[in-house]
Amino acid sequence: MANNDPFIPYLATVQSVVDLTPDVRLFTVELNDPAVRESFTYRPGQFAFVSVFGMGEVPFGITSVAHRDEGLQFAVRRVGTVTNALHEVREGDTVGVRGPFGNGFPLEDYEGKNIFIIGGGIGMAPLRPVISTVLDRRDSYGDLLIINGARTPRDLVFAPEFDVWAQSPRTKVELTVDRGDDNWTGRVALIPDVVRDIKPSPENMIAITCGPPIMIHFTLQALKELGFADRQIVTTLESNMKCGLGKCARCNVGDKYVCKDGPVFDFEQISHLFEEA
Ligand code: FES
Repeated sequence: MANNDPFIPYLATVQSVVDLTPDVRLFTVELNDPAVRESFTYRPGQFAFVSVFGMGEVPFGITSVAHRDEGLQFAVRRVGTVTNALHEVREGDTVGVRGPFGNGFPLEDYEGKNIFIIGGGIGMAPLRPVISTVLDRRDSYGDLLIINGARTPRDLVFAPEFDVWAQSPRTKVELTVDRGDDNWTGRVALIPDVVRDIKPSPENMIAITCGPPIMIHFTLQALKELGFADRQIVTTLESNMKCGLGKCARCNVGDKYVCKDGPVFDFEQISHLFEEA
């Protein structure tokens, strides 16, 4: 039965653990209670807290889409105590899941528009459900342009999916790295420079970006040079979230709470955050 206390995590069983990069793992979990499973619906861009019991919990953008019914997925980069503990979790283990929280991307508002996805590193994780949704409802959207960047080729998350994405009609995938290796024949360039090089038209296009703040800062500049208006550029923010419910005041950005008013914002709302990055 669904619990009514949003601070109590649901129990979930890990179905699979897959290495995406040397320090990022993809966890697929299934909520144990069938009634909870049924009622746990979520949108691209929403997040949930995943807990390792006795260690703590961390918020992650959900990287699966509810309509595919393939389990709840989180891409976890090993960066601290809880994420290290999560990397020790194996198939069949139990974790906690609290959520879903946040607003998510208003994908209905983007129907009929061209979609430009710009993801850096693990920032691709919350963007993957947008890509999946556009691919699964291909006729509802215009062109899909994806730029995915990472430090090195080995750090490109979701690499096995690039070909699938690129084979979809009216879809282009551009990969770039900061530093190539012996096998890399693709771009070696920073994401904002790739944006400038490709020069997508801002007409009828929504740009959705996620990645390190410095990348977003310079990507924002590149998009503006091309004529994108602030309202056409959307991002999903990370923050020091604790409750996820707008109650602890740990995640405020100006007068907004990332957990409750976001994590998805357009730059009409938050461009001031990146102007001095
Ligand atoms: S995480 Fe508590 S108010 Fe946002």
